[in-house]
Amino acid sequence: MAATRGETAPLRPAPARAAILGAGKPETEVLAYNGTVSGPVLRLRQGEAFRSTVTNALDQGTTVHWHGIRLPNAMDGVPGLTQQAIKPGGDFHYAFTPPDAGTYWYHPHDHTAHQMGRGLAGALIVEEPQAPPFDRDVVWVLQDWEFQPDGQFVPGFDTPMEAAMSGRIGSVVTINGVVPAPMAVRAGERIRLRLINACLARFMALRFIGHRVTVVALDGQPLLRPFEPSGGQVIIAPAQRVDLQLDAIGSPNQAYPVIDDFYGNGAAYRLTTLAYTKQPPRRSLPVAPVILPPNPVPQPDLRNPVRHHLTITGGMMGMGMAADGGPAAIWGIKDRHRMNDGMAPIFTIPRGRTALITLDNQTSFWHPMHLHGYSFTVLSRNGVKARYPYLRDTVILRPKDRVEIAFAADNPGDWMFHCHVIEHQANGLMTVIRVA
Ligand code: C2O
Ligand code: CU
Ligand code: CU
Repeated sequence: MAATRGETAPLRPAPARAAILGAGKPETEVLAYNGTVSGPVLRLRQGEAFRSTVTNALDQGTTVHWHGIRLPNAMDGVPGLTQQAIKPGGDFHYAFTPPDAGTYWYHPHDHTAHQMGRGLAGALIVEEPQAPPFDRDVVWVLQDWEFQPDGQFVPGFDTPMEAAMSGRIGSVVTINGVVPAPMAVRAGERIRLRLINACLARFMALRFIGHRVTVVALDGQPLLRPFEPSGGQVIIAPAQRVDLQLDAIGSPNQAYPVIDDFYGNGAAYRLTTLAYTKQPPRRSLPVAPVILPPNPVPQPDLRNPVRHHLTITGGMMGMGMAADGGPAAIWGIKDRHRMNDGMAPIFTIPRGRTALITLDNQTSFWHPMHLHGYSFTVLSRNGVKARYPYLRDTVILRPKDRVEIAFAADNPGDWMFHCHVIEHQANGLMTVIRVA
């Protein structure tokens, strides 16, 4: 996986071939940034200007969205909202200064199911000014794919059936664009493992057998109180990121599987293996978790918020006809007054106020709901207050969940709010929130 460090990074999305299935297996025709799946790892510095010229070598429009970065609206990469799509042969200059350190990612926001589903996604790491005390910094871009026997993708991204159900869930899961080989680990080392779920639709629940992992950041934002996930299961929805402190407490020469059992025991599979080298332990463990320095995210003011209520509707059970007899959008978002309507803002938050939004999932499906331009605080779930507030840019709504989020509306513009199961987004589960 190529890494690009520093203040500029040209990106060129184009058709390419990639050995996703591994050496000796047929190559796959993909879409790739700079020829690699996943794309180059971009390493930026917190508070330092970054520029990227994106040159479109695809045969259709594209954009780049810098997922999770609190950036100026004009740099957000949403066609028809913050910019025009970059035409084939055209280019666009992105420039922003990331205010927050952490784990982010980038992907197209035009024809997303088709382009991201064929490989366009990459890690965007914003480094702290002072490197935190880990021995190693490891990035895992997680993607899944559906292959034909000849190594090509099964066609038909974004079919109505997939869209009305849980989206396209592939049967081959890769790390950094390849079917994973075991990862070499030295006993006693302390790894910062940055997980990025870049799948179209697959949720994951990772278990690091023989290890205790500590969550030190969510969606890029450090936790004041790192925690061990309950049941040892690291849940990560499409678009979410989880930074783990992985303390290598295993023994030299031993191997430990990493299992994903989100869809139950019957569908569990081994994602990869942590293969310990023969080397003697680097230090004796355990040691206290690392607390990463906080980012300058403004605190919501909950004494006098602007309140809204958004209801999520639709899905297989809710499919129907529109009033004019045509097919209705499969999914929808509505507030008390109106239904979502393309790129028209569903409501406006006065700039400088705090928004407190209740998200009400009336469907029987899971939706990772993502807001552009902000890191929001998750206040409560089904009436139960969060033990302590934490920041996210993508929050999981389980079937029938009701979740309250809040954010200080300091960043003006039109910001997309959508489900990050891409087939849901593309079929109505999206709206726009204006801050002005
Ligand atoms: Cu990662 Cu609107 O998307
Ligand atoms: Cu985003
Ligand atoms: Cu959804």
